[in-house]
Amino acid sequence: TARTPLIAGNWKMHKTGDEAGDTAADLARRIAGVTGREVMIAPPFTALAAVKIAIAGSIIGLGGQNLHWESSGAFTGEISGPMLTAAGCTHVIIGHSERRQFFGETDETVNKKIQAARAANLVPVMCIGETEAQREAEQTFSVLDKQIRNGLQGFALQDISDLVLAYEPVWAIGTGKTASREQAQEAHAFIRSVVEKLFGGPAAAAMRILYGGSVKPSNIADLMAMDDIDGALVGGASLEAATFADIVTY
Ligand code: G3H
Repeated sequence: TARTPLIAGNWKMHKTGDEAGDTAADLARRIAGVTGREVMIAPPFTALAAVKIAIAGSIIGLGGQNLHWESSGAFTGEISGPMLTAAGCTHVIIGHSERRQFFGETDETVNKKIQAARAANLVPVMCIGETEAQREAEQTFSVLDKQIRNGLQGFALQDISDLVLAYEPVWAIGTGKTASREQAQEAHAFIRSVVEKLFGGPAAAAMRILYGGSVKPSNIADLMAMDDIDGALVGGASLEAATFADIVTY
């Protein structure tokens, strides 16, 4: 496909600034010279400055793990899009299942956050995915359909031109249970079909859809061989530079 693979590391609530800077510098050394793919790290907010310095001159982009939809204001504990851009971010993860599950995020807040990301020139990485109970109840497609439609509600073609979708089956996150590549491909093809219905064929063909959920060096190549899998959102296996470099260079 013509879609450049994006391999993104979500460090969640791991690493101090010093630790993150060391890992990012190590990763940058290990993947120096790699071409044909984009790489992004999303460290905790407190490590953005250190990682920004560590990745200078490398192909690695910097991402926030969340943002607020307002650009400033009385919102104690929150971070805005312009703050992320000023801190060197190029990307921002939006609507991760952990934020939906533990911090009350909904398709509506995801929608507002995507608008805020765009206004701040950040590439939104919008996360969607079904829970284990929803999969068992055969609601996977209807859940994905609703998350995409509501998350992208009201957007025009130009609003989603650089948006990245990340399919993360909740039952595969941090559990060691990866979706089989057939299960992932089936979901990705469905997701692309929904994007096509909403925004047309060219937009759907251009949109990158990442897979997330227990991605590791041993399964990345198999996943990436599937037609509609355009990259990965990696949690646990992105925390060590050597392991993440193996995934990036699958
Ligand atoms: O954002 C990353 C995903 O939640 C996947 O996490 O690779 O540790 O399963 P994991």
